[in-house]
Amino acid sequence: MTQKTTSIHESVREFYAAQARSSGSCCSAEPSACCDPAQKNLLYPEELILNLPKDVANFSLGCGDPISLARLKLGETVLDLGSGGGLDCFLAARQVDKNGLVIGVDMTPEMLRRARASAVRMGINNVEFREGYLENLPVEDGSVDAVISNCVINLSPDKPQVFREVFRVLKPGGRVAISDIVINGALPESIQKDMQAWGACIAGALDMKDYILDLEKAGFINVQVMPKDGSGNPLPALPVGQPFSATITANKPI
Ligand SMILES: C[S@@+](CC[C@H](N)C(=O)[O-])C[C@H]1O[C@@H](n2cnc3c(N)ncnc32)[C@H](O)[C@@H]1O
Repeated sequence: MTQKTTSIHESVREFYAAQARSSGSCCSAEPSACCDPAQKNLLYPEELILNLPKDVANFSLGCGDPISLARLKLGETVLDLGSGGGLDCFLAARQVDKNGLVIGVDMTPEMLRRARASAVRMGINNVEFREGYLENLPVEDGSVDAVISNCVINLSPDKPQVFREVFRVLKPGGRVAISDIVINGALPESIQKDMQAWGACIAGALDMKDYILDLEKAGFINVQVMPKDGSGNPLPALPVGQPFSATITANKPI
């Protein structure tokens, strides 16, 4: 790993360790694209988060709903990149049911502790939380049906490597269903270097066009990056230089 990669990992980990230690609901401190409290209730359809303990349902640091996007099936193996407090893993676990498996990967021990404790408390047995980096996934080649992620890839200092890893672990025909913060154009360099803005899911946002290109370079087909608002705005109509929440889908060829 380069020094730049290591220092971004360290400051992002510090940022999220503090979030994991917070009392319950997310993002008390700084304004952030990945944890805007005003949006939390709008992320998931109500029936999806029904009957979850409040402290689990409210602890989302995401920016969308990769679960609905992924159309999970009974018995599937699902990988959640940057699983945080585990909410998406728990939702996926319900959908794949007892013959399926959900693997959450995160680099922040405080997040893993929180997610594992919630799994035990809720008696969920088809979820595993593994410590590791998106850039070097602790997951076997060709073992996963669907990769989901919620507001995490923007935090990676080496996104092309993340996409290569996702490609490696997917089965042939496997799919990607991601919510993430992306940008149309580029942010000013001063913001790109601001570590607080990086942790807040702003500074690391990838240009939409590069997101598509990097996924295709990793081998993916049917790559689509769309604004989450469902407007289906073509690229030139989106405000330049402003990060926004997007849904990203792609397939590994059969
Ligand atoms: C914005 S939070 C999202 C958490 C969760 N997906 C959710 O929706 O609540 C980002 C999470 O990704 C983890 N993370 C960030 N960069 C990572 C990396 N390069 N490798 C592994 N985990 C990472 C952080 O530790 C944090 O738990």
